[in-house]
Amino acid sequence: MVQTPPGKILDATSDAALRTAAKILSEGGVVAFPTETVYGLGADGFNEKAVCRIFEIKKRPSFDPLILHVFEPAQVRSLWKTVPPLAAALIKKFWPGPLTLVLPKKEAVPDVVTAGLGTVAVRMPRNEAALKLIGYLGRPIAAPSANLYGCTSPTTAEAVREDLGDKLDLILDGGPAAVGLESTVLKIEGNTGVLLRPGGISVEEIEKFAPVVRAKPTAEEIRESPGLLKTHYAPRTPFVFFEGTTEELARDFDAAKKKLKKKDQALPRIVLLSFGKQTAPAFIEAVEVLSVKRDLTEAAANLFQAIRKLDKMHADLIVALKVPEHGIGLAILDRLRKAGGGQKGLKDFLEKWDP
Ligand code: TXA
Ligand code: MG
Repeated sequence: MVQTPPGKILDATSDAALRTAAKILSEGGVVAFPTETVYGLGADGFNEKAVCRIFEIKKRPSFDPLILHVFEPAQVRSLWKTVPPLAAALIKKFWPGPLTLVLPKKEAVPDVVTAGLGTVAVRMPRNEAALKLIGYLGRPIAAPSANLYGCTSPTTAEAVREDLGDKLDLILDGGPAAVGLESTVLKIEGNTGVLLRPGGISVEEIEKFAPVVRAKPTAEEIRESPGLLKTHYAPRTPFVFFEGTTEELARDFDAAKKKLKKKDQALPRIVLLSFGKQTAPAFIEAVEVLSVKRDLTEAAANLFQAIRKLDKMHADLIVALKVPEHGIGLAILDRLRKAGGGQKGLKDFLEKWDP
């Protein structure tokens, strides 16, 4: 791996560093910066060439649109055709914060940002360094999560460096991301919110303002918001999201073990991602606990770092267990299901396993 030169990572609490970063952005550079959700891979949202570099660096397909990050609510007036009452109410309540709103765009918003769609996604992050950076640039920053397309999102500067360090002009280090998973993406259609991606703001909170449609995505919606795709947020190690209990997990493993032994095959090394503290079956080699006190907010903040840690153990399989399906738990479950992609469960994996 190419080493990142020390000067490429600057402290996001330093005003001089933020000015340097803004200058790099104004000249068409690409800078990774902290937000409260995950680290972003930023470029000047109105510089088409710079935005194209984001897609190249991330290996992101050009049909997947980006979010524009603003430093004050008034900035949306230059991006959206109109600001309907529902959007205004949600902005008042949740900005700055992990809620991205999708609305019809103004002509001036570049097509590369929106992948040719007639709408643009906008959010105001709740992170001082990010807000100052956008302010110093004076234009919205286009930014996806600062990871390779389809892979686990970074919640620390170090994680960005490991994945993309040699390809970036600068990384701003603002410490670990507070929320730990991406913003909720909500499309505003009249008085209804269409949930395109569960995230940092829970559906229950948004439902206090408007009905939220959580329909199964149609092909068109997937095209509109590839965050809805089945495989995303995936580590390198095969990953299975297991909906059952640890007892059921042990039963599935025992059944497969007999078959593998008959075929004289070695057993896979399995590591576990667990919501709370619990006794793992003996065949589990290591356990990462998301929150000892079973707190969903804490679990979300630890999620991507925990997946990265397990990935580095180079096991044959990561098994993730369920978290409660409410509040931010919905977003955690969404990331776990997608990290697992098409894998149907432990049985499915073990049957196909061939070391
Ligand atoms: O928390 C976050 O949202 C982070 C930080 C950096 O702000 N950003 C992020 O960006 O997660 P990204 O590109 O990894 O995910 C943005 C999601 C994608 O699923 C994309 O398809 C969807 O938002 N999206 C963007 N523009 C859209 C649009 N006009 N219509 C529908 N979906 C859109
Ligand atoms: Mg992403």
